[in-house]
Amino acid sequence: MKLFTIFGDPITHSRSPLMHNTVFTLHGISGCYTRTHLTDGKQLRNVFFAQCLNGANVTVPHKEVAFALCDEVRGIAQEIGAVNTLCREGDRLIGYNTDADGFIAAIQSFGFLSTALIIGAGGTAKALAIALRHKGITPTIVNRSSGRLDYFKRKGFETYTAQTLTPQSFNLIINTTSAGLSDQELPLPHSLLIPLLESAKGAVDVIYGKETPFLTMVKNASLPYKDGLDMLQEQGVLANALFIDHQLSHETIRNAIRQSFLY
Ligand SMILES: NC(=O)c1ccc[n+]([C@@H]2O[C@H](COP(=O)([O-])OP(=O)(O)OC[C@H]3O[C@@H](n4cnc5c(N)ncnc54)[C@H](OP(=O)(O)O)[C@@H]3O)[C@@H](O)[C@H]2O)c1
Repeated sequence: MKLFTIFGDPITHSRSPLMHNTVFTLHGISGCYTRTHLTDGKQLRNVFFAQCLNGANVTVPHKEVAFALCDEVRGIAQEIGAVNTLCREGDRLIGYNTDADGFIAAIQSFGFLSTALIIGAGGTAKALAIALRHKGITPTIVNRSSGRLDYFKRKGFETYTAQTLTPQSFNLIINTTSAGLSDQELPLPHSLLIPLLESAKGAVDVIYGKETPFLTMVKNASLPYKDGLDMLQEQGVLANALFIDHQLSHETIRNAIRQSFLY
């Protein structure tokens, strides 16, 4: 049997075990996917090999540490500097980032987009900024503080803090902050969000499973919107395909993962 887990801190909320185990069960794949609560990210590689894992996902706050612990990083993850998916090849640890392409798959329903405003400057913002640029969509980054904007400046993105951003028009407004996750905060001041949403074509909050104050504002502005559920499912489809060496089509995996949310 192949063994998989998700590393994170906290981790009890993760839907990944249900998503991946449903694919395994429905399609007769001999696999088992668990959760691993990991507080010290530097131990990730040791724990991965000690548990004899074949693959893993990595979530907050270990994606950047995991990147550094890989023997090889493939695809867009090289540019992002963070991985959310690990596969074992012999005694080598290979890293990928499926958040990036998962997000792009999730926003297809918005149609043509040329610009986006990413609110937040953490690991998710990095993945989305690189992925959007690869798709020909120009992202601008705004964060409440300036420290984490250095990465984006080095990569040539236009960056602002909440204090320096003036209202401009962007096709898509994306909240990648954790504002609203376990509080009732908005990611930017209300007075700044109002004109941004008025001139946008759509909005996304990558948080899933609850309506954040940001999403409530988006709904009140009558904009097309998504929460983070589609992104979660799509990154899972791509990770699962890697775990099972592409034995099933993305469509088959997607259907099984969607089914897991009915339980
Ligand atoms: N749907 C999915 O599949 C999916 C995938 C990945 C992540 N996520 C979600 O994305 C969110 C961010 O994850 P991450 O890994 O990017 O986190 P992270 O690296 O810790 O970054 C968090 C960002 O949020 C900002 N922030 C935190 N609290 C804020 C507040 N009250 N107001 C304004 N800004 C605030 C931080 O600003 P400072 O720099 O000023 O601290 C930072 O820019 C999490 O909620 C996570 O669950 C969803």
